[in-house]
Amino acid sequence: MALQSVNVLLGVTGGIAAYKAPDLVRKLTGLGANVRVVLSPSSAAFVTPLSLQAVSGNIVHQHLLDPEAEAGMGHIELARWADVLLIAPATAHCLAKLAHGMADDLLTTLVLATPAPIFIAPAMNQQMWAAAATQANLKTITERGITCFGPASGEQACGDIGYGRMLETVDIAQMLDEAVAALKALSGNEKTAATATNEPSEGSQDTPGLLAGKHIVITAGPTREAIDPVRYISNHSSGKMGYCLAVQALAMGAEVTLVSGPVDIPVPMGCKVIQVQSAVDMHAAVMHAVRQSCDIFIACAAVADYRVADIASQKIKKDNDEMTLTLVKNPDILADVAALPSPPFTLGFAAETHDVERYARGKLTRKKLNMIAANDVSQPDIGFNQNDNALTVFTADAQMVLPKQDKLALATQLLTILTNQVRK
Ligand code: C5P
Repeated sequence: MALQSVNVLLGVTGGIAAYKAPDLVRKLTGLGANVRVVLSPSSAAFVTPLSLQAVSGNIVHQHLLDPEAEAGMGHIELARWADVLLIAPATAHCLAKLAHGMADDLLTTLVLATPAPIFIAPAMNQQMWAAAATQANLKTITERGITCFGPASGEQACGDIGYGRMLETVDIAQMLDEAVAALKALSGNEKTAATATNEPSEGSQDTPGLLAGKHIVITAGPTREAIDPVRYISNHSSGKMGYCLAVQALAMGAEVTLVSGPVDIPVPMGCKVIQVQSAVDMHAAVMHAVRQSCDIFIACAAVADYRVADIASQKIKKDNDEMTLTLVKNPDILADVAALPSPPFTLGFAAETHDVERYARGKLTRKKLNMIAANDVSQPDIGFNQNDNALTVFTADAQMVLPKQDKLALATQLLTILTNQVRK
């Protein structure tokens, strides 16, 4: 449990989902966290400070300009106390205030004052979630490094159906635990790296990860198509997105097999890695792994579409001014997995330079996938070889924008959506 002895400052804002806050506190303390709660002014209409005080075992913080509170644990002290700040539920209004850096109450002041990583679990009506202003605010704050958990899709308190429901409290607590484990693992803390990579830890049976019991096969990186013993055709894929998905899937409890093309990234601890060079090798390794056992297949590799028909056995000399290579089409690994008699849940990627939605939806249908994540690789600051990415996720009946953020945070969001889809 990565949250063991971690100080979690829980901000609660004023939506109907605030009534779940005491339960969230219990889930967090159950994972070993020390929890202090900060209520926004309107949230007290949905949940009482007294119940939150009872479950957290700590006084609830509500007012910025309260001399008595400041004499106890002042807002700067509280901001420093926090190892992580989680806002759940985070309303549309809260997102707007965060996007603008407002500090007109205790919670928003703490957001600015804390050096701790910040996580939000939004909850609002589906139309409010989809509103351009909300999505723009979300984009702004996630670009600044705030990680967003959810929201989930489903029936809402108002009767609407769509994205905007707060994730279940057990899932939020679990995702925070996994995010903290991943942060610690990435910062080189070996003890927590073990937790992040699915090594059994005491008490972990009480809180199985969202992907516990699932075997996920992930392809990552480029492929290299040999021309002769010294030359090859390849592309700009760094493999970062696929490796981040592997790290996060492990942290969420999955068993992960990574089928990786040649990349310059250390192997995630606890992950089975099969190193390959060419598309044909990757195809063989994936089909073997998937046939053995696979619940979810994520095709993140930038597989070369063509290979050289006749690979020269000796180095080709530059005797001629021109040279012609005959290329033949590579097998489509993702389409072949999706065409198996009992296919796993399939998530593909579509890296496009134009008409992103049309091509992504086309691949979703043609390759018979469950989900596709599309990104616009014509934008130089995201995608290939970058630390950040932005995705639009399509299923047969839904679409969701995951704004630009670092690939690890994006992997968490993508896997959350995937988990919701797999459960359907
Ligand atoms: O058809 P296209 O290459 O654009 O499709 C992209 C998706 O298909 C990615 O998920 C990629 O990993 C997968 N793919 C594959 N085998 C190929 C080509 C693409 O698995 N030969």
